[in-house]
Amino acid sequence: MIEMKTEAEVAVMREAGRVVATVLHAVRDHAAAGTSLRELDDLAANMLADAGAKSSFLNYHPNWAPMPYPGVLCTSVNDAVVHGIPTEYRLRDGDLMSVDFGASVDGWHGDAAISFVVGNAEQADLDLIATAEEALAAGIAQARPGNRMGDIGHAIGVIGRAAGYGLTADHGGHGIGRAMHEPPHVPNEAPPGKGLTLRAGMVFAIEPMFTAGGRDDYRYGEDGWTIHTIDGSRAAHVEHTVAVTEDGPRVLTVP
Ligand code: MF3
Ligand code: CO
Repeated sequence: MIEMKTEAEVAVMREAGRVVATVLHAVRDHAAAGTSLRELDDLAANMLADAGAKSSFLNYHPNWAPMPYPGVLCTSVNDAVVHGIPTEYRLRDGDLMSVDFGASVDGWHGDAAISFVVGNAEQADLDLIATAEEALAAGIAQARPGNRMGDIGHAIGVIGRAAGYGLTADHGGHGIGRAMHEPPHVPNEAPPGKGLTLRAGMVFAIEPMFTAGGRDDYRYGEDGWTIHTIDGSRAAHVEHTVAVTEDGPRVLTVP
C-alpha cells in the first residue's frame, strides 16, 4: 500500500531533508585525498546527533544482507555503485565517490546521494556524474500529479542509455516516509505512460545509478553489501527525496 503524506507530514520530511543535504555538503567538503571513509562517517554521525536526528541506515537489516548496515553513510568509491561501507580506506586523488545518506526527524525520513571526484578529475568521470545529475533532474520533473511512474523511469533511462551507460539491474528508487523504504519501486528505466498514476501526497526517493562500462549486471563485494560493477568500470549515483504536490515536484533534500 502506498502511504499518502499530508502537507504537515511533508513539512517534517522537509526538515529531515534539510539535515540530509547539510550533512552531504559537509562530507563533500571534507573528502580529500588522504581522508578515510570512516572519518567521513564519524563526521556525519556527529552532525546527525547535533541536529537531533536519527540515521536511517545504521543497523538497517534487509533480509538479503548478511549483517546490519554498520554506518550512517554509504560511501561507494570507483567501481562501487551503491551501499559501500565506510571502511578505513583512504581516498586517493581522482577517486569517484558516491555518498548516500538518510536521516529521520520525528520518525520521518529523508534520503539523498551525491557523486563527486576527489582532487583531479578525469573528464570521463565528470561526464558520468553530470549525466546522472541530468537524469535525476529529468526524473524529478516527471513527479507531478497525473503522470505515471513509467514517466519517471523513462526520463532517467533514456538519458543514461543515450550516453552508453549501464543502469544496474533491479535497483532504483522507492517510496519513503515513516520508513526509509516503502512501496512503490521507482524504476530507472520504464515505458512512458505506464504504471502507477502519481498523486499529490506521494513522496519518492529517485536515484539514478549509471555505470561507465554500459553493463547492467553487477556483483556483491565480500562484505555482502557493496554492489560493484561487473566489469570494474566506475559508477555514479545521485538521489533526492521528492514530494509530488499539486504545484509539481518539490525536492525535500536541499539545505
Ligand atoms: N539510498 C539507498 C537505498 O535506498 C540507501 C541504502 S541504505 C542502507 O538503497 F542502509 F541500506 F545502506
Ligand atoms: Co534511497
